[in-house]
Amino acid sequence: MLTNKGFVDIHSHILPHIDDGSQSMEESLEIARLAVKNNIEVMVATPHFKHGFYTPSKEKILSSLKKLRAALKAADIPLEILPGSEAIISPEMIRPNNKQPLTLNQGHYMLVEFMLDEISPFFEEILFKLQLKNIKPIIAHPERIYPIIENPQIIYNLAQKGCLLQVNAASILGLLGKEIESLSHSLLKRGIVDFIASDVHRPNKEVLNLSKTVKVAAKYVGGDRARALVRENPLKIIKK
Ligand SMILES: [Fe+2]
Repeated sequence: MLTNKGFVDIHSHILPHIDDGSQSMEESLEIARLAVKNNIEVMVATPHFKHGFYTPSKEKILSSLKKLRAALKAADIPLEILPGSEAIISPEMIRPNNKQPLTLNQGHYMLVEFMLDEISPFFEEILFKLQLKNIKPIIAHPERIYPIIENPQIIYNLAQKGCLLQVNAASILGLLGKEIESLSHSLLKRGIVDFIASDVHRPNKEVLNLSKTVKVAAKYVGGDRARALVRENPLKIIKK
């Protein structure tokens, strides 16, 4: 594992037939081929998880992962896939005996997201209680959430309280519009971005272009730090 100094992408929807990401094994292999072309060496599969709506079980994710790994091996595509999920922040996350989303590589970090247009009023308490359970939240693409675009102070406060932030490559590259691009750049400028990831759903070479994204990020945080956002920082959190 990890011999090529390639990128480690902690956010992807590469597992087939599980959410709104890849819809077939062939599509997953195509995403994987493009990822390898873009120097991605490890990808964490993070299917969506929302209490009461879509709650893929650990068994389902691990069995899908096993099939994908076998298909990658058969197709000779050198991409390592690890298990995870992307969970909508909701009060059920901290209720005991609730089915819980998979953490990244089943370690201590959980990729969590806000709904795009509405933020749970109890989010601070939920994120705090998760940390008490020894689970560190990583907020996925805060720059895409409308209430945060309107009031970025929400995310500055969360970063100050120990939440880690993951920004999407597409946002930094300006593929999702000016407002999202501009917020992603200000988060970089403030030094509060911990990870850049693809959040890939379809075979799309633009969102997988982490080299280009690192170049843009380097303007704000310097070359070494920009590279750490796509390799050293992800490596630290997927370690068992
Ligand atoms: Fe995602």
